[in-house]
Amino acid sequence: MKNKVLILNFGGQYGMLIARRVRENNVYCELLPFNTPIKKIKEFNPSAIIFTGGPNSVYAENSPKPDDSVFSLGIPIFGICYGCQLIAERFGGKVESVSAIFHREYGKTQTFFDVNNELFSGLPEKSITWMSHGDEITVLPDGFTAIAHSKHCPFAAIYDKKRKIYGVQFHPEVTHTVFGKEILKNFLFNTARLTPDWTMESFIEKSVKEIKEKVGDGKVLLALSGGVDSSVSAALIGKAIGKNLTCVFVDHGLMRLDEGNEIEQVFSNRGINFIRINAEDRFLSALKGVVEPERKRKIIGEQFIRVFEEVGKQIGKVDFLAQGTIYPDVIESGTGVAETIKSHHNVGGLPSAISFKEIIEPLRLLFKDEVRALGRELELPEYMVNRQPFPGPGLAIRVIGEITKEKLDILRKADAIFRDETEKAKVKNVSQYFAVLTNMRSVGVMGDGRTYEYAVALRSVSTEDFMTCVWTKIPYRVLEKVSSRIVNEVKGVNRVLYDVTGKPPATVEYE
Ligand code: XMP
Repeated sequence: MKNKVLILNFGGQYGMLIARRVRENNVYCELLPFNTPIKKIKEFNPSAIIFTGGPNSVYAENSPKPDDSVFSLGIPIFGICYGCQLIAERFGGKVESVSAIFHREYGKTQTFFDVNNELFSGLPEKSITWMSHGDEITVLPDGFTAIAHSKHCPFAAIYDKKRKIYGVQFHPEVTHTVFGKEILKNFLFNTARLTPDWTMESFIEKSVKEIKEKVGDGKVLLALSGGVDSSVSAALIGKAIGKNLTCVFVDHGLMRLDEGNEIEQVFSNRGINFIRINAEDRFLSALKGVVEPERKRKIIGEQFIRVFEEVGKQIGKVDFLAQGTIYPDVIESGTGVAETIKSHHNVGGLPSAISFKEIIEPLRLLFKDEVRALGRELELPEYMVNRQPFPGPGLAIRVIGEITKEKLDILRKADAIFRDETEKAKVKNVSQYFAVLTNMRSVGVMGDGRTYEYAVALRSVSTEDFMTCVWTKIPYRVLEKVSSRIVNEVKGVNRVLYDVTGKPPATVEYE
């Protein structure tokens, strides 16, 4: 069965996007560095290879090149942008800087296709593609033909029929290329003749088998935060090993309204061991009087570890620690972050707290939307599967200044109203939205009396990756309703503010 694609990453911005596009076609793929040794490639046993774009020039000294044996594997190859130029150069063609020859083409470009070629079958003869390149093929290698062109780019797509090698100068993976999806699909199914067998159903079957084999009669411990990744991991591992899985949910008292009970309800009837530790008092007393954001984060991290050490002792020897690592974490690991803006605390990662033999990460090859699809397949409730990111330190970093139970309760109510109204209004393109309790009190008037109460800030952002974001333009009528409900329904608040700052310069969370 032909069912796997290898994507070799030459450093382009869109490597991950190409992988997403392939998987959307129910074909399994992995994104590996361009210099992956041929031994590893053979072990992976791909049925087709895609080369991504990249910022280099193929003719430059030390430009990234794959192990040359990939060209002798006899499987279809599809090169995108830099990948296309790489193919041209490898087979004896010529690649030059665009400025030296033609006009530079950047952005949406009218492109003409040879629709008799299987790569463009079903497409109109011309359509828009997305070009973004500083170099261009000027001489085609022997055996290749041009199968697409634009006004200034005579070799917008090239093809070697005998070797089944394709190259496209444009980017089919970005949505600006109108028929990009179809082009990739044609490569996957017309040329590489792949079987679309990558479904969450098949993933569950395969993973359950693998987890059973690996764990045997061993015990697995999973730190459950209630976030999408840890919840889906719990459901999947639970399906494989039932009572040999123990999920520990530490309720630090910093969760949103009703969240702790919802998590308990979902996981207490799944045939696994579910332990909820109500540690509100412990966390709140450790946080008493603390106002500095980094101190808050450190204290919460430490407390988590202590709680887990205690639970670990009670449970006895743990063979495996389960973590909810997902594919973007795997791809991005090792890139190194220049400066610690905030010490992120993730309840999934507690390796130093517990003695265990091995880590299992059943989601490490899945993208976020695949994790959500898997959660649905495992019958987790929609609100859990669609949950927005929620930071490990919880509401502690959304209550500015000292944390008290009273402040947390005020925030929980205001936050629930904001989320409720935003959901009801079906506001589009919002990635994360929540309320923050500022440490500011101000004067107001309610009835005939003076008030001196807290101001709540509303934060809503749109983002692809949370590294940067823009603030969301929530309609005024929605904000008006939220504001009116908060001041009417939440005692202790007399003012509501809307945050209109992006990241940078702000961050998503306030602390
Ligand atoms: P910032 O505030 O850094 O947030 O712009 C970016 C994204 O990360 C989430 N976030 C956290 N997630 N532990 C987490 O698991 C943390 O300590 C943490 N701090 C921030 C934040 O909610 C946003 O989605």
